[in-house]
Amino acid sequence: MERFRVVGGTRLVGRVRVPGAKNSALKLMAATLLAEGEFRIGNLPRILDVEIMAELLRRLGCQVSLEWEDVQGGTAVISVPGEIGYEADYDLVRRFRASIAVLGPLLARCGQVRVARPGGDAIGSRGLDMHIDGLTRLGARIATEHGFLVAEALSGRLVGASVELDFPSVGATENILMAAVLAKGDTVIDNAAREPEIVDLCEMLQAMGAKIGGAGSSTIEVQGADRLYPVAYDTVPDRIVAGTFGVAAAMTMGDVRVDHARPEHLRIALDKLSAAGAEISADPAGFRVVMARRPRSVDVVTLPYPGFATDLQPQFAAMNAVAEGTAMITENIFEARFVFLQELARLGADVRTDGHHAVLRGVDRLSGAPVVSSDVRAGAGLVLAGLVADGETVVSGIHHIDRGYAGFAEQLTALGATITREDES
Ligand code: EPU
Repeated sequence: MERFRVVGGTRLVGRVRVPGAKNSALKLMAATLLAEGEFRIGNLPRILDVEIMAELLRRLGCQVSLEWEDVQGGTAVISVPGEIGYEADYDLVRRFRASIAVLGPLLARCGQVRVARPGGDAIGSRGLDMHIDGLTRLGARIATEHGFLVAEALSGRLVGASVELDFPSVGATENILMAAVLAKGDTVIDNAAREPEIVDLCEMLQAMGAKIGGAGSSTIEVQGADRLYPVAYDTVPDRIVAGTFGVAAAMTMGDVRVDHARPEHLRIALDKLSAAGAEISADPAGFRVVMARRPRSVDVVTLPYPGFATDLQPQFAAMNAVAEGTAMITENIFEARFVFLQELARLGADVRTDGHHAVLRGVDRLSGAPVVSSDVRAGAGLVLAGLVADGETVVSGIHHIDRGYAGFAEQLTALGATITREDES
């Protein structure tokens, strides 16, 4: 177990480069299961979840080599055989929830699948009902048996159908989409998720030969194909990592250029930074955040994309903790994401929660203390808080941070932060 020791008080200045998006990369890797042959998935973030997904693909019979180019990322070369396995064990699945993304592709490709059911996690209960309902509409029979989701296509192959989601779930949209591309006939997914990671997946599937319309809108239409083909494809830049550096720049009253980011994926977050007093300049290759004053408080309401991302809520909470004024934060996606606020309070934040609302009254200064990160974004939020706290903040549980931020400490150090990784012991 490792922890970060952060010494507060430095303005962040310089440039950072954003790696590929974790929440896209894992799904692109799962999508390779849909076609036989050799894939190259580039701009992969160098994080543990990518290694675990590689291991999961290997256990299904694929050959996977990860070629890292630097501390941030690299390329996966994935050779998918003609016959693949269709069982994903609990020992891998329990290590990362995104493994559920193999459900749709395996069911489509093999006509049957056994995937261990992931449980809840630190940020909430995380249901699978919409995944199951959607795949059932496509002609699958699905049951939970001895901790596994066991599914089979009733007529041997899935059949296109109309699916209306109760909520634009990212994971359910992805699973249904990856099942529909090899189903017989047409599928329409209504109330589909619109996240950039969904668009990224659609673009890779289109390059593989899938016929998909409406990517990035609430209605996705798929014409099922008999066969798809391997491709070389680069992962979209990580908007959450980019946004995290934007907040870090604003909080520390710094000046940071975030390269290889897509500002159009961060519209609301950048508007919030601007409302907080930052000067933002954006172009297609990235954006710059310059902050000359103490941030002003900004209210945040998390919603499915294009709404404000839940994955940036803790970072904005950290900024609001030291901002001028009072902010209301409403978390609509993951019920347990406010656990992190109690750690922020250990650093001296003035925070009150009531259900899924929190009120943060900005304080003049935070005071460094030992804190524990409960999930990847909580961890990022605590590191940011540490950057502006007096003295040292020791953030433990950083394996969570490592899951979403490739080379986080190295990048912050390059911007002038004092942050070191050390053994918990
Ligand atoms: N939900 C259900 N039933 C379902 C599916 C979802 O009740 O069948 C609920 C969930 O419990 C949750 C909400 O709907 O309360 C949103 O879930 P969604 O399916 O949209 O999210 P996800 O696919 O589980 C992905 C990201 C999350 C990100 C969310 C929202 C991955 C691996 N994870 O989760 O990322 O917060 O979309 O954008 O792609 C993170 O990176 O820190 C992270 C948690």
